[in-house]
Amino acid sequence: MPNTTDAILNAVDSALRTLFVAPRATRECATLPEASSDPALDQQERQLSGALMRVNHVGEVCAQALYSAQALAARWPGRAGQTPNEALAQQLEAAGREETDHLAWTQARLDELGARPSLLNPLWYAGAFGLGLVAGRMGPGVSLGFVVETERQVEAHLASHLDRLPAKDLASRAVVAQMKDDEARHAREAQQAGAVELPMPVKGLMRMASKVMTTVAHRI
Ligand SMILES: [Fe+2]
Ligand SMILES: [Fe+2]
Repeated sequence: MPNTTDAILNAVDSALRTLFVAPRATRECATLPEASSDPALDQQERQLSGALMRVNHVGEVCAQALYSAQALAARWPGRAGQTPNEALAQQLEAAGREETDHLAWTQARLDELGARPSLLNPLWYAGAFGLGLVAGRMGPGVSLGFVVETERQVEAHLASHLDRLPAKDLASRAVVAQMKDDEARHAREAQQAGAVELPMPVKGLMRMASKVMTTVAHRI
């Protein structure tokens, strides 16, 4: 069982890799069209797609931070009555590894569109990491409940992007559609693992935080 120092080093390693190393996908995005069947976008469409995919890339940066922080919290020696929960930490890390594919796909699509990732990624990462730590310290049920609510909100957000992305941008649409399916599955898996339902005000606060992130990341 990893000790606390290992757990902290894991979290630092994950942060540095997310922010400074090009992510490598472990699977292809199954729905991607052949490059030859991907129609050329005009300048305006390209700009819109770049902005939306930047927002989605930030979402995946935050997903890395949340899962990493929640795994760290699960491994942290407990206060009264709480013991480190290695099984939960490993489940969270496994889910985080799937999010690495999303990070790689969104990064690749940003590159293809000639768009840049958000300049504020270190800030988004730090904010999400803090939220994940708080959720993780509230015990396995709440931690998993936070995963369920986050994944559901991301799924709804990706569905809205399928309405907003240019119809011609088949490649971005394919990435978003595949991610949307994956996020729905992540929510179901966390639900089955014993998530508790979060109170409505907490869900509302999470929605507000993500609104700030998506609005700013659209531009910066
Ligand atoms: Fe994701
Ligand atoms: Fe997810």
